[in-house]
Amino acid sequence: MSHDTDAELEARLAEQERFSPPESFVAQANVTDEGIYEEFEENWPECWEQAAALLDWDEPYDTVLDDSNPPFFEWFTGGSLNASANCLDRHLDERGDEAAIEWIGEPTEEENRTYTYRELHREVNEFAAALKDLGVAEDDVVTLYMPMIPELPIAMLACARIGAPHSVVFAGFSADALATRMNAADSEFLVTCDGYYRRGDPLEHKEKADEGLSGVEHDVETVVVDRLDDDYDHPMEANHHDYDDLVEAQAGMTVDPVSRDAEDMLFLMYTSGTTGQPKGVKHTTGGYLSWASWTGQAVLDIKPEDTYFCAADIGWITGHSYIVYGPLALGTTTMMYEGTPDYPEKDRLWEIVEEYEANQLYTAPTAIRAFMKWGSQYPESHDLSSLRLLGTVGEPINPRAWKWYYKYIGGEECPIVDTWWQTETGGMMITTLPGVSEMSPGSAGPPLPGLDVRIVDNDGEQVKPGRAGYLTVNKPWPGMLRTLYRNDERYIDEYWRTYSDVDSDDPDDWVYFPEDGAKISEDGYITVLGRVDDVINVSGHRLGTMEIESAIVGVEGVAEAAVVGGHHDVKGEAVYAYVITEDGYEGDDAMAERIIEGVNSAIGPIARPEQVVFTPELPKTRSGKIMRRLLEDIANGDELGNTSTLRNPEIVSEIAAKVKND
Ligand code: WT7
Repeated sequence: MSHDTDAELEARLAEQERFSPPESFVAQANVTDEGIYEEFEENWPECWEQAAALLDWDEPYDTVLDDSNPPFFEWFTGGSLNASANCLDRHLDERGDEAAIEWIGEPTEEENRTYTYRELHREVNEFAAALKDLGVAEDDVVTLYMPMIPELPIAMLACARIGAPHSVVFAGFSADALATRMNAADSEFLVTCDGYYRRGDPLEHKEKADEGLSGVEHDVETVVVDRLDDDYDHPMEANHHDYDDLVEAQAGMTVDPVSRDAEDMLFLMYTSGTTGQPKGVKHTTGGYLSWASWTGQAVLDIKPEDTYFCAADIGWITGHSYIVYGPLALGTTTMMYEGTPDYPEKDRLWEIVEEYEANQLYTAPTAIRAFMKWGSQYPESHDLSSLRLLGTVGEPINPRAWKWYYKYIGGEECPIVDTWWQTETGGMMITTLPGVSEMSPGSAGPPLPGLDVRIVDNDGEQVKPGRAGYLTVNKPWPGMLRTLYRNDERYIDEYWRTYSDVDSDDPDDWVYFPEDGAKISEDGYITVLGRVDDVINVSGHRLGTMEIESAIVGVEGVAEAAVVGGHHDVKGEAVYAYVITEDGYEGDDAMAERIIEGVNSAIGPIARPEQVVFTPELPKTRSGKIMRRLLEDIANGDELGNTSTLRNPEIVSEIAAKVKND
């Protein structure tokens, strides 16, 4: 690797807008034939049999796509399979003694854990038996509230084995968020843990879980994993069970994997939307698992002999699809890191890549921007030559960060896949195929083969290349969400109503709207511009501004609040809160503290406002609608947009002056 300074790198790479996939990569890539785009288009939807063929089916499906009742599309109907059998049992003969999971705890003095496929299979069976003993039946929703410890994927696969959908709640979410999700799904089972390590310190988790449970309206059986040993003593109530005791009692037990219909729910994942109520995205066994596997193979170039490292958290969809289900279905070694990338030093990730000789690294632009800020000396002090492919996900990546990643992490020898997708899509949708396409920093690339993605205006008409418009997906795909749990109406309203003829039963009249803005180049490369709804993206985490606003309004003394996202160098976006206090309350530091704490306890630390701005009024239109666009301008220090439609234009410069003074 040559040693350019950042400035030299920029000068050399700045002009370059397209990068060819490295020959060494193409020579071994899983997908190299550019004919795949045409082939899939001509052979749609049967092309997706290629994805289904990556799995073992108990019963073969009889229909690839049933589109008779749009937008309730069904894939691989008539087929049945089990996800845990696909991720474990079928690999035992050939890969039983190979590592399935390499787990790295945060404390460096602790021993890392390796689970071979055989060991993982054993523990998943034992825990599946334990869950059944606790009374978990097929189709019961089991909530998993755990950080990055091996028992999380073990519990997911144990649920999948007995046909109980899991609902993973990100460990960084608050007690309230846990309770909301358990109530919404009527989930009577919870698996959690005592705590975990963050930046060297034990962080308790069980108290938060207990507090959440106190807000659940029905009885719950709780399993507690002991992660902290003696570092934390936790009280156990009558309906709390120790994970180790349960598994020990089932030593050597096996549980036959339940044959699930292709369309049966594999899991639920709650995600933020425009309203305060999170949306329960439903994913299925056949379509989802096919999608996670096919995209893992085609885009991440996963091969069984790889050591594959996705640095996301399993509490988000990225970890579901690309730490657990995709990689394990493909029989590879998947890595899990418990902690933060800067503990004990800012080279922790590079140390891990070097030690495990990781072949792929999949992470988020926010992490890359942090690495860039810390400096190239950290990656340069490690041998990263095992890496063959790099990926990014979660938010747009700016070309400068892309080029830094390409040079300092990939040594200019790894293709980068910038993958656009969502919780709802189950897996990747827009990205280059690393062995086929040229890369264009800042643009995710063309849609995957077999997908019909368009950029349209308000009326659904395609816009010219270079013009900003709205992203739509005009044909169904196997990994798509099937509905919002127990809320078909909201499913239609949120994703279909905008661009579909909702009275039609012609599937071609149904268009999926992901609520992102985008533009397309002459040759079909798509640049995603970001959300067009009231959802903001902080460090690749999706947050609803309404959820944050309702948390703030819940704080004593707050009359009204408006939340917007403002640009942030590392996080992408940061939360800005504009607050009106009630009479008799002072908008002072103590009040700001209480507001921040209120957001913390309603959602979690990721939603903490960067700044709380007190104001006597919010800018409103004559019809009383808050003009968020202006609040965004203020947060960004941009020139203020048109205020002529406001009923109180003078307030805008007043607020702007306040923000500057802070
Ligand atoms: C939203 C989905 C996909 C798993 C992690 C986030 C944004 C995602 C990209 C990308 C530009 C991206 C979109 C999308 N997004 N990937 N490569 N380029 N924007 O899943 O929490 O459901 O968020 O993240 O705005 O709608 P999510």
